[in-house]
Amino acid sequence: MTAYSFLFDHGFTRVDPERAHRLGFRAVRAARPVLARRRTPGRPVSAMGLTFPNVLGLAAGFDKNAVGIDALGALGFGHVEVGTVTGQPQPGNPKPRLFRLTADRAVVNRMGFNNDGAEAVAARLAARGRRSVAEGGPVLGVNIGKSKVVPEEQAVRDYEKSARLLAPHADYLVVNVSSPNTPGLRNLQAVDKLEPILVAVRREAGSVPLLVKIAPDLADEDVLAVADLATAIGLEGIIATNTTISRDGLASTSEQVAAAGAGGLSGPPLTGRADKVLRMLRDRVGDALTLIGVGGVTTVEDAQARLDAGADLLQGYTAFVYEGPGWPRRIVRGLP
Ligand SMILES: Cc1cc2nc3c(=O)[nH]c(=O)nc-3n(C[C@H](O)[C@H](O)[C@H](O)COP(=O)(O)O)c2cc1C
Repeated sequence: MTAYSFLFDHGFTRVDPERAHRLGFRAVRAARPVLARRRTPGRPVSAMGLTFPNVLGLAAGFDKNAVGIDALGALGFGHVEVGTVTGQPQPGNPKPRLFRLTADRAVVNRMGFNNDGAEAVAARLAARGRRSVAEGGPVLGVNIGKSKVVPEEQAVRDYEKSARLLAPHADYLVVNVSSPNTPGLRNLQAVDKLEPILVAVRREAGSVPLLVKIAPDLADEDVLAVADLATAIGLEGIIATNTTISRDGLASTSEQVAAAGAGGLSGPPLTGRADKVLRMLRDRVGDALTLIGVGGVTTVEDAQARLDAGADLLQGYTAFVYEGPGWPRRIVRGLP
């Protein structure tokens, strides 16, 4: 058994979750020279003018600071979305801020966008250099969010700054307005607040494909309003969904749920709503936009169901944590 699979299989269920993440991620990076010799599995997908090596990507939040893109790609992810990166560096919320609800194979997090900030991440990406898919690298998404200290009225400038610094290094850019862990962030999903942000970021991003990532907790009519706005502005796509603040339908006891506390819930309990949001979006936008389906995708059947609901591409995070480093390859190989 390799060091990294040991950590994933054993560490991730016993050690403090944030420490397990750090150790597991470090082991994946250390294993890169061995992993890099393996061919990326799956069939290529063309979307947004890009060729993705396969349909499955790693969702934002795992590699917040863009330190392990190629190691994660070597595990079989066809794309890696780094971030969320904010205009200013920030420490995130006090620890503990990451919890497992093992009975649901779910995670609750209130990380609060701990990250090195747009300048540092841009410098790191510049040092890595542009690595194309032809050279064996994954497609690189960069997800940007609002700095906590920046008031809502100045959100446009904060997103603009991150876009200006990071778009030159990204294959695609994502405006994240859907994390539950930055106070007020999700208010920016209201069309009148979202429009100026997307217009400004679009300007900074130039020809880099731009997507918006939405919460599963939006009312249906608000999902449709974002879809219409994305179409009107000419975004390339929508990522659905982020984590939920709902705690409905969990197998974990109310004590376990209470012990985790506030934050975004991810994993299988999210599947139903994430699937429905994807279906609504596809019905609304037709073939015009690329839709990335994320939320609870765990098995090959889940992956196929989300593709059937209209997703062009898929992402996962929580299943990777529970299932370990072989997970992306298993899913991609299991799909037709
Ligand atoms: C610990 C953790 C941190 C996350 N951080 C971010 C983040 O910084 N930005 C973001 O857009 N989504 C973040 N997410 C949300 C995931 O990208 C994804 O949308 C969500 O977890 C649903 O997918 P899953 O059920 O496959 O985990 C985070 C999720 C987790 C579990």
